[in-house]
Amino acid sequence: MTRKLRNVAAALAAGFVMVIGAGAATLEEVPSIKEIMGKLNKGPDSLVQSLKKDLEVDPIDWNVVQDKTDEIAKYAGYMPKNEPPQGDKESWAAITKKYAGTAKKLAKAAKEKDLEAVTKAHGTMLKACAKCHMEFKP
Ligand code: HEC
Repeated sequence: MTRKLRNVAAALAAGFVMVIGAGAATLEEVPSIKEIMGKLNKGPDSLVQSLKKDLEVDPIDWNVVQDKTDEIAKYAGYMPKNEPPQGDKESWAAITKKYAGTAKKLAKAAKEKDLEAVTKAHGTMLKACAKCHMEFKP
């Protein structure tokens, strides 16, 4: 093989790897921020908003709360995997990591049936909207 041919072969191989990489990225199917907001926060039936009612029930149905908070943690976990539509990327990485972390705490507290910790993490998630929207929502 001439050197030129070898370079072509290497370039083709690199291109192939990149295509595979892109395929794997789409396979994971990270939902868009809009989809995540729809699931978590938009309207009274969304997961984070409707959790309020689940926590007012006496006695609390922990199965319902645990299923819901698992979903919340799953979707909040997709936030750092998105690009912000505007604003500083480093700041986005920090704020979404914190958001996902709070959701994880919420799910863990639900698993432990720790109502005080659940209420605290839930409150933090409910209050997180304005700060993030101010910087990142177009
Ligand atoms: C960590 C950042 C972050 C937090 C926290 C956050 N949002 Fe958002 N939200 C966004 C961004 C960014 C958009 C814009 C998405 C776009 O237009 O692509 C958005 C969009 C929305 C939309 C519009 C969705 C649509 O269909 O167009 C609603 C409604 C919304 N957020 C509600 C909320 C509420 C309510 C809360 C708090 C309980 C909240 N969000 C917390 C980042 C956040």
